[in-house]
Amino acid sequence: MSMAGEGSIVLLAAAPERIRNSDVHYRFRQDSDFLYLTGFKEPEAMLVLLPEKKGGRSILFCREKDPKKEMWDGAMTGTKAAVDEYGVDEAYPVTELDRRLPELLHDRVRVFHDLGHDIDFDHRLIGWINDFRGKPRRTFHIPDEIVDLGHLLHEMRLFKSRGELSVMRRSGRIAANAMSRAMRACAPGLNEANIHAELVHEYMINQCEPAYPPIVGAGANACVLHYTANNQPLADGDLLLVDAGCELDGYASDITRTFPINGRFTGPQRELYEIVLAAQEQAIDAVREGTPWDDIHDVAVEALTDGMLALGILHGDREDAIEQGLFENYYLHKTGHWLGLDTHDVGDYQVDGHSRILEAGMVLTIEPGIYIRPDDTRVDKRWRGLGIRIEDDVVVTRDEPEVLTNRVPKAMDEIEALMAG
Ligand code: GLY
Ligand code: MN
Ligand code: MN
Repeated sequence: MSMAGEGSIVLLAAAPERIRNSDVHYRFRQDSDFLYLTGFKEPEAMLVLLPEKKGGRSILFCREKDPKKEMWDGAMTGTKAAVDEYGVDEAYPVTELDRRLPELLHDRVRVFHDLGHDIDFDHRLIGWINDFRGKPRRTFHIPDEIVDLGHLLHEMRLFKSRGELSVMRRSGRIAANAMSRAMRACAPGLNEANIHAELVHEYMINQCEPAYPPIVGAGANACVLHYTANNQPLADGDLLLVDAGCELDGYASDITRTFPINGRFTGPQRELYEIVLAAQEQAIDAVREGTPWDDIHDVAVEALTDGMLALGILHGDREDAIEQGLFENYYLHKTGHWLGLDTHDVGDYQVDGHSRILEAGMVLTIEPGIYIRPDDTRVDKRWRGLGIRIEDDVVVTRDEPEVLTNRVPKAMDEIEALMAG
């Protein structure tokens, strides 16, 4: 409220329910901004903030309790518990929005609201403001500015509080345990779907769900960056790339491990894995206060380029190879992203056209990889069809980077020991 300033009004809507097919809905997921400010997990709600000189007022419009409906769909919070348990100053039934909101817009000069998410509500808002315009001898201000709320909220969300970090630590730990479980379960003759099921099992018994559709890619499927079919057999001698994270109380984790289906890395697999691991460890070590965001990617790219030059996958002069982006044939994505309530979390990567400088409290992923497509005849046969990525979640601190997902091994001998155990 102090960022929005006196004289403003902040309007933030809950996510809508969405139909999957016929009369079946997708599982409801609250809007991340709404969750951030309220912790409230029901649809059909709107948060209103009225900043004032001292403090200000918070109002939640939500569904009123309805015993009949609750017999079908389970308990609802209702307006009383919204105040008692969620700490808003006032709460009203969402059915009273049309009656009450115009009053609340009185004498407000600026509306913080994300236009375009709910066209129907946008129309109503503009309708209420226009109704004021028609009033003769008006003695109050009407809003003449609608400002994107994301500007304020997303900068706040980029910096995680102590409470958020403690949830993210737990989210990282559960995802790491699920990945270890996947490694232990993995064996030739199973299917990618078996591994997918192991992950989801571990999430669910810990009150989590997948933060995004898991990627379980055996053999050359690992070279498809957004592979999610997860229905192919696991062949002896191939690698398996698993990119899977969970969501705990709204907070995502995001881990990738690549491991041998039969529990033993082959020589060519080791050669490539070594490079990706070195790139990942060097990039993690660069996650320090004061480091520009872009430097993290550069560190990874240099390590990957060095490794691929040494193996003869890339050719020529090191500086030229980096300058010309030769690595891009085998490493198509960036080295990481912000992590939080969204897997690809909000927050600007650039400020005034310059790379953002890392500060304590930011959380990001580090996820370099090498992907050699099976039909890439420029590369020696022994590496074709290999896709390797290693991904961890890292907190920027005043000191050493804190890795949230280090409970699952990534050194080759440790992976082999776990899988043999
Ligand atoms: N799983 C999505 C990502 O790694 O960015
Ligand atoms: Mn990621
Ligand atoms: Mn990932």
